[in-house]
Amino acid sequence: MSGIVSKYSSTRTGASRPTPPLLDNHGRKITYLRLGITDRCNLRCIYCMPEKGIDLLAHDEILTFEEVSRLVAIFCRMGLTKVRLTGGEPFARLDCLSLIDHLKREVGVPHLHLTTNGVETHRHIRRLKQIGLSGLNVSLDTLSRSRFVELTRRDRLDQVLRTIDEAVRCGMHLKINSVITESTTDEEIRSLAGLAKQVPISVRFIEHMPFSGKTATSVVQEELLSTRVNRLFPRLHTVLARGPSTARLFSMAGFRGTIGVIGGQTRCFCAQCNKVRVTPAGRLKTCLYGKSAVDLKQMLRSGKDDGDLENAIRGAVQERHIDGKAAELNNGFKEQQSMASIGG
Ligand code: GTP
Ligand code: 5AD
Ligand code: SF4
Repeated sequence: MSGIVSKYSSTRTGASRPTPPLLDNHGRKITYLRLGITDRCNLRCIYCMPEKGIDLLAHDEILTFEEVSRLVAIFCRMGLTKVRLTGGEPFARLDCLSLIDHLKREVGVPHLHLTTNGVETHRHIRRLKQIGLSGLNVSLDTLSRSRFVELTRRDRLDQVLRTIDEAVRCGMHLKINSVITESTTDEEIRSLAGLAKQVPISVRFIEHMPFSGKTATSVVQEELLSTRVNRLFPRLHTVLARGPSTARLFSMAGFRGTIGVIGGQTRCFCAQCNKVRVTPAGRLKTCLYGKSAVDLKQMLRSGKDDGDLENAIRGAVQERHIDGKAAELNNGFKEQQSMASIGG
């Protein structure tokens, strides 16, 4: 047994053996877990939350450090190799850094990633690099200070830029996530894309998904978004992504990095979807647009063993919808919660 796999031992069952891979009912292999570790956030992006914030979970409704570790170990035994911690803002959770350290060193997650708004992250980059974080995705929708304040309702652009500088300096694998709404100007897209010219990072433009907390922005379709990016950068060529990817990637001569377009609302990547989500409240979601499939927290807190949890997860992925449109239809087009309470 490899060193990494042997780390997935469980104190509950003593089971340390990897179990068969996690396959859904459409033959897609699940290898990626998005884990929301908090619904708290120190920004108030206008497409995500109202100024007063969202109704927050009580602390005891959020998965504990031990519960998160146990779930991640179970998923890793089922062959998941990539875990992304999300929020809210992950660093709004006080034990975020020790959780990352524990998941990497003790649980042995092969590829551990983090999606962050970058406000506090600059303080932790060196440590994250030492721990062996595989990649950092930083949300940044504009490089203009006044627009940043308008979009996030907070004056924190300098801190986010410090995070990006520090991550580049440390050689961290870095992606910038920029949500594009109707108010985004060509100049904002040009200057954000310009970051990928200067440094070897990926700047990804994301179609806005109208979840709750939204303001009156309508969706910028992926096709239009790609057309717009290609109009601004006519010499772009396609770059093939390695493995399943939410982003279509492009680059051009003179660029050190790539530009991506993520059709989150169009959902053009569902056919290769290799991920499941666990929300901060411990609910398993097999699609961003679907209902919660299993209340894992309830199972964890009612003494179920790892085998029970594994069976519940396997059962849920056997009932997966073919794509996000079908999941949304089944959900009755119910207004979705804020991304912060789902985990993005
Ligand atoms: P990489 O692993 O680096 O490719 O990142 P990622 O795109 O999987 O995750 P990230 O947290 O950076 O999210 C970028 C955007 O993609 C966000 O707007 C997410 O909500 C969106 N996204 C990620 N996964 C899905 C998905 O399964 N469905 C939809 N519709 N959007 C998704
Ligand atoms: N539509 C698209 N992307 C969103 N994000 C947050 N809310 C939305 C939305 N409504 C992005 C954040 C972050 C990622 C996890 O999801 O900018 O980068
Ligand atoms: Fe916070 Fe992310 Fe929502 Fe912005 S999009 S308010 S950074 S959780």
